[in-house]
Amino acid sequence: MAEDLLIIKTESKEEQYQSLIPQIQALISGEDDLIANLANISAALKEQFGWLWVGFYLVKDEELVLGPFQGPVACTRIKSGKGVCGRSWQEAKTFIVEDVDKFPGHIACSSASRSEIVLPILIDGVVLGVLDADSAELAQFDEVDEKYLSQVISLISA
Ligand code: SME
Repeated sequence: MAEDLLIIKTESKEEQYQSLIPQIQALISGEDDLIANLANISAALKEQFGWLWVGFYLVKDEELVLGPFQGPVACTRIKSGKGVCGRSWQEAKTFIVEDVDKFPGHIACSSASRSEIVLPILIDGVVLGVLDADSAELAQFDEVDEKYLSQVISLISA
């Protein structure tokens, strides 16, 4: 497997996801170590999109515990229902937050974060963790990100 990613810089983020996702699939195929795959997925998303922070929290001992990520240091443990990540875990649903200052209970790991998307990683109806992306721009994330990041999560679950 080639370790270099082909990063395309077009205006269309759909095109960027469409170029990146097969590369992520190739990166993780043949490797069954979850942490290794989550680490490479974080790096690939960061390299393509340049978001402030992108990574994973994994459910361990009734808490979300920080997993592989790219970006500034982050809080290590989040309880169910707390912050955007804890809500995504508790409700097993995706949250798109256009302005983190308007999300009650948002956990500010970085003061530079302005908007965020969090998707649950669901396997057989159980949330194993979340994928979290944060941006220094307001309203960075929308349904396009939800659609394609869900595909990334499907690759993990597969
Ligand atoms: N903002 C998140 C916490 C995780 S960090 O952003 C990396 C939240 O409110 O759950």
